[in-house]
Amino acid sequence: MYAFDIATDISGTELYDELVKAADALTAGEPDGIANMANIAALLWQYLPDLNWAGFYRMVGDELVLGPFQGKAACIRIPLDKGVCGAAARTGTTQLVEDVHAFPGHIACDAASRSELVVPVTRDGAVIAVIDLDSPLPGRFAQVDASGVERLAGLLSSRL
Ligand code: SME
Repeated sequence: MYAFDIATDISGTELYDELVKAADALTAGEPDGIANMANIAALLWQYLPDLNWAGFYRMVGDELVLGPFQGKAACIRIPLDKGVCGAAARTGTTQLVEDVHAFPGHIACDAASRSELVVPVTRDGAVIAVIDLDSPLPGRFAQVDASGVERLAGLLSSRL
């Protein structure tokens, strides 16, 4: 059994310190990328409040394909010229979207989503996956979330 207890009085950078530590412990020495993505999706879902979707899209050929996640069933394939995920994978940069309705080409997998954070995972300079977080709250994600998830993406670079 893996039991990760989350202190209720921590937030911001400290919360991501704990999340990255748990992710490191869970994935260390495990070479199976699907198992690692599945466990990380579960951790994101457990640690971060106010999410309605948390998970991965993987680069397969020239498009993104759905990976392990928590939340409602989602779009399976995303071309790189579409959506927030496509923008993150195409540019290799974090996309922090305070209002998804204002993002041209946003793909609404769940109509409840109002804000979104997508962080690319890179290996040897190439995007291999993106971490996608959605929230039903407008403006749910801030720079502290972007930095925290970027730290997680750095850890996962060699573990997916
Ligand atoms: N909203 C994303 C699509 C993926 S779902 O949110 C799970 C996008 O615009 O790329």
